[in-house]
Amino acid sequence: MNNKIDGFSKLSKNKKIDWVIKNHFNSKNDMKKLLESYWNSNKKIQKNHDEFSENTISNFYYPLGVAPNFLINNKIFTLPMVTEESSVVAAACKSAKYWLTRGGFKTKVLNTEKIGQIHFLFNGNPSKITKFFKKNKSKLINSVEGLTKNMNKRGGGLKDLEIKNKTDLIDNYYQLKGTFKTDNAMGANFINSCLEKLAQSFKNLIKDDEDLSNKEKNIEIVMSILSNYTPNCLVKASVSCPINNLGPFKNMKSEEFAKKFLMAIKIAKNDNYRAVTHNKGIMNGIDAIAMATGNDFRAIEACAHAYASKNGKYSSLSNAFIEKNNFNFEIQLPLSMGTVGGLTKLHPIVNWSLELLNFPNSKSLMEITAVAGLAQNFAAIKSLITSGIQKGHMKMHLLNILKQKGASENQKNEAINYFKKNKVSVSAVEDFLKK
Ligand code: MEV
Repeated sequence: MNNKIDGFSKLSKNKKIDWVIKNHFNSKNDMKKLLESYWNSNKKIQKNHDEFSENTISNFYYPLGVAPNFLINNKIFTLPMVTEESSVVAAACKSAKYWLTRGGFKTKVLNTEKIGQIHFLFNGNPSKITKFFKKNKSKLINSVEGLTKNMNKRGGGLKDLEIKNKTDLIDNYYQLKGTFKTDNAMGANFINSCLEKLAQSFKNLIKDDEDLSNKEKNIEIVMSILSNYTPNCLVKASVSCPINNLGPFKNMKSEEFAKKFLMAIKIAKNDNYRAVTHNKGIMNGIDAIAMATGNDFRAIEACAHAYASKNGKYSSLSNAFIEKNNFNFEIQLPLSMGTVGGLTKLHPIVNWSLELLNFPNSKSLMEITAVAGLAQNFAAIKSLITSGIQKGHMKMHLLNILKQKGASENQKNEAINYFKKNKVSVSAVEDFLKK
């Protein structure tokens, strides 16, 4: 089989499909039909999706769920969640209901700064490049005025530019570090365009400088790119209630629940094997909102985990404490999110999700998303320290197992009934279906 091809991206969609099917599949007809069956019958919608990315040949469905009853800063929200993990939306709903009667979630955006960097090499006297930068700083900032004008009007733009000597890390390595605010956009394109323009201006200004030697003028711009690490684009979400309002629980007093909950957090703060799973549970909620609202979940994930290591050790993103007989549970994390630009207008379901949330600005979306993370974490820890996680998980997983085993509607309904009282496992479901 010859699986190599030149000029694939230039083929039509049908030719691409034909090539892929011919070269990679045995049951060619079935596999082609499968791809086609996932196309949207509305040609306009399909074309819209085809154009999001290169070499699109079909759609890949993920469930869109909703989690109602989220009381956030005294307003009720229904959250859109895109996730394939069967228990995530159920956990969100449970947490929302639980906190609905206990004061709800409180949130606060602490800052919205983002960072962009021009990485460059300068072979010369460090004080001379610093002096050159100070002398030319305002010229550099002015050189991007054409790009920042509109953003400035909305309170955003390039807020500061600094030079960083990084020669302790790599010989001759320096950075120009830009601090940006991007209003309701996530801002990647805005920041990157500004940086590329700044880098060009930097080179031009250096060329004409009288204090730098020819060797020193020969700086090398390695790259200009935003940083997805945004520790100053920070949001906080919290819940709180009197300890004796935490219950009732089946086999546990409220005080014991609070104590065990705090211990679970302490473990996640101190043991990185646990911390990763703990934070993964938080990201279950955060990614689901990021996906539904067309935000870059890879950037959000990378940033969250870097932030979880900010003190030199990977640790829990959430925190719990008792104060004056009140149980407090909170999360603080960076979330760089946008509600304009990107997919927000282009993807009809993203737009739908934003309308469901009453068209939030980026700050409100950061708050809602942080709440989804905290809610997910609460549901996970609550299960883990009481009934154990498998009870809820396997109940949701039951439907997936039944589907995999080809159970009929009747068998499904009987199984759901039977497994209300019996432990779910793949073999238990197999035995049940055999019977
Ligand atoms: C599963 O997707 C997430 C959990 O493992 C999170 C946790 O252990 O805290 C339940």
